[in-house]
Amino acid sequence: MDLDIVDSLLTTTRSVRKRLDLDRPVEPEVIERCIEIAMQAPTASNLQGWHFVVVQDPAKRAAIADIYRRAFAEYRAMQERRSPLWGPEDLRAVQRMRIGPSSGYLAENMHRVPVLILPCVESEMAEVPHLSEVREHASLYNATIYGSILPAAWSLMLALRARGLGAAWTTLHLMYEAEAAQVLGIPEQVVQAALLPVAYYTGSGFRSAKRLPAGELTHWDGWEGTR
Ligand SMILES: Cc1cc2nc3c(=O)[nH]c(=O)nc-3n(C[C@H](O)[C@H](O)[C@H](O)COP(=O)(O)O)c2cc1C
Repeated sequence: MDLDIVDSLLTTTRSVRKRLDLDRPVEPEVIERCIEIAMQAPTASNLQGWHFVVVQDPAKRAAIADIYRRAFAEYRAMQERRSPLWGPEDLRAVQRMRIGPSSGYLAENMHRVPVLILPCVESEMAEVPHLSEVREHASLYNATIYGSILPAAWSLMLALRARGLGAAWTTLHLMYEAEAAQVLGIPEQVVQAALLPVAYYTGSGFRSAKRLPAGELTHWDGWEGTR
């Protein structure tokens, strides 16, 4: 494998918000190909209960964007309610996020993004009756359900990025998941995992992000272990 290319894709696939080209249409064939690639990701027991709801219709995009904006405002209000209690550690964490203006821009312009993709997964399957028993083990159930869509959703972002399309991983609309399901006719047993606004990106490449040191967060042979 060409590690330069692979590593560059893996380290520069950013959440794109301000650099989404809101005027350039996205070809459905490109989206279809990227979804095909994404579906090479793992799913529990190879069940493939995944679904990708691709929203191009302007009225539906506007409805989903409206839900997102409401959730975003709610989230901002939560932050503001809490901020008087923040100590220096919390402030540092919030500063590390540093996504304020960019996430506000996305919230304001979500309806203008040419394609919205909602990766979804079936939370109950007639052919897997034991899933209801798995549900009794919350961690296992959550890991099984979300683990059967999130790897594919990330692959989708990578495949898009490789073709000059940016996306942003977002989840805030899930505050009103049922409303979004109603707009799009998503059945009750289908769980939405994210909302990816997708568009060609403007400018050239992206840089790797500053992250915490991997060594500090890697535990060898147990939590306390170092290499
Ligand atoms: C589970 C999850 C939920 C997120 N939800 C949102 C969101 O609702 N809105 C948003 O603008 N970004 C959201 N993000 C994007 C993060 O803010 C972003 O990944 C982080 O700031 C790092 O930036 P990068 O993806 O460009 O490296 C989410 C990311 C993850 C993994």
